[in-house]
Amino acid sequence: MTDTVDNVDLPYDEDASQQEKIEALRERLEVLESQNEEMRDKLLDANAENNKYQQKLERLTHENKKLKQSPLFVATVQELTGEGVIIKQHGNNQEALTEVTEEMREDLEPDDRVAVNNSLSIVKSLDDETDVRARVMQVDESPGVTYGEIGGIQEQIEEVRETVEMPLKNPGMFDDVGIDPPSGVLLYGPPGTGKTMMAKAVANQTDATFIKMAGSELVHKFIGEGAKLVRDLFDLARQHEPAVIFIDEIDAIAAKRTESKTSGDAEVQRTMMQLLSEMDGFEERGDIRIIAATNRFDMLDRAILRPGRFDRLIEVPKPDAEGREQIFQIHTRSMNLAETVDFASLAEETTEASGADIKAICTEAGMFAIRDDRTEVLEQDFVDAWEKIQQEETDDEDVSRTFH
Ligand SMILES: Nc1ncnc2c1ncn2[C@@H]1O[C@H](COP(=O)(O)OP(=O)(O)OP(=O)(O)O)[C@@H](O)[C@H]1O
Ligand SMILES: [Mg+2]
Repeated sequence: MTDTVDNVDLPYDEDASQQEKIEALRERLEVLESQNEEMRDKLLDANAENNKYQQKLERLTHENKKLKQSPLFVATVQELTGEGVIIKQHGNNQEALTEVTEEMREDLEPDDRVAVNNSLSIVKSLDDETDVRARVMQVDESPGVTYGEIGGIQEQIEEVRETVEMPLKNPGMFDDVGIDPPSGVLLYGPPGTGKTMMAKAVANQTDATFIKMAGSELVHKFIGEGAKLVRDLFDLARQHEPAVIFIDEIDAIAAKRTESKTSGDAEVQRTMMQLLSEMDGFEERGDIRIIAATNRFDMLDRAILRPGRFDRLIEVPKPDAEGREQIFQIHTRSMNLAETVDFASLAEETTEASGADIKAICTEAGMFAIRDDRTEVLEQDFVDAWEKIQQEETDDEDVSRTFH
């Protein structure tokens, strides 16, 4: 560009003002050129600087990674002081004063668990131990079971609602009358009669936090930690009052104490003792209700049944004829049935059926129709299904007899 301007041949007869203009332009050009030069220098400097920072960044990232990789120790924050944070290491119980960034300090509170490195700097804060493990138990979404889907046990449903739901919805009522609200109910009865369903319906109905744990999980999921888990369970409930704790298959932890001294039994017993003591600490338990369920009532340790622990023992029996009819209706709601299907007579025929059996009969009846290339389910399909299911049950019993 500059060349072109330099090389321009100026005509001699150019007047003075033209000359001046050109002169001015030339000067301007020089200024711009020198500015350009300066900028180029600055750019080079900046590039060099950038390189330096890039290298520094890499080094720090690497160091940071190494710091995080080396095993970290767990400590608990004791105190936030002007001079730093006092932590106490787990294991050796040694206390130490350590400094933290402003940012991290804002997140810390006494009793928080943190991870520290070799030089006892806090690398990160850890989630609360209780919460992490107990979160597994908390049911965030209500299970989709409603009372309307449970047939034949109306009285029991009423009783559960009265003991669990009402005190949660209307705690003032009990104060007015001057009695303590009931603490918990135990549902017991043969398999497949709707006990678990009932607890789920309660969960669905109430706004309280619903925390569910199966007895077998308490014992088997975290071996050696059943007792701690029970404590966590109640801690979690206390943190989220009002809450309902549902312990399904409670027989797994509350079976009669046996003479045997195997470690498994000792573990189960520790778990149960913890449960008993949590249930007894009722005054401090606040707005928490307990629902427990079992199909092995005979196996339960009497200690768990003592007054003050469960206020109500609710038997959930197999349905009677009327109940069976209702359950048939419930489970065939979305089925394409022939008009001739008569639930009353089906209910008469399925004397020993539980709710779960009836559900199975309905599904199986549908299968019979499909096999027969029909879209409509006939009464005979239900009869055949019941026969098949009974047959399977006796087969199962035969099998288990041969194996034992
Ligand atoms: N009273 C009932 N009304 C409608 N359906 C029922 C009823 N009882 C059982 N069922 C059906 O059987 C299934 C199993 O029932 P549920 O799990 O509630 O039995 P349970 O009493 O908890 O048995 P278990 O003692 O073996 O745990 C339910 O999902 C439902 O489909
Ligand atoms: Mg159940």
